[in-house]
Amino acid sequence: MTEKVETILASLPAERRHLVLFLHRVQQEFGYIPGEALRMAADYFAVSPAEVYGLVTFYSAFRLKPGCRHEITICQGTACHVRGAPELAEEFSSLLGVKPGQDDLDKGVAIRTVNCLGCCALAPVVVVDGEYQGRVHKERVREILEKLTGMK
Ligand code: FES
Repeated sequence: MTEKVETILASLPAERRHLVLFLHRVQQEFGYIPGEALRMAADYFAVSPAEVYGLVTFYSAFRLKPGCRHEITICQGTACHVRGAPELAEEFSSLLGVKPGQDDLDKGVAIRTVNCLGCCALAPVVVVDGEYQGRVHKERVREILEKLTGMK
């Protein structure tokens, strides 16, 4: 693990403004952000470990523990809500048999809801394994799940 984190660090300038990008890359690599990566980031970017931890816990996209293989995040912010986000959450939930906010380790899928993903013009927005998908309508949910889990 340490070697991979070192490689990610070496790909970025040691400037604080690259810290969030580093965290995204670590999570992409491991599926979560290991504690050792937090310590290494603090050293490399010359910030306090508390600052790194604060960033990780501020953004709901980051995880400090290993989670499910697949993660679906459905925005429930105002712009997404008025464009059908609640129905999307219901459709994902009913097709997968996984409730929003639940990690189903057997199925390897977690469904999360957040209050805004910062791209309201694309509402309703869903993030599937880190990939943002905009203007998702209920009829696309099955197609997304087929690609993700091979579900038919
Ligand atoms: S409300 Fe959904 S992206 Fe902002």
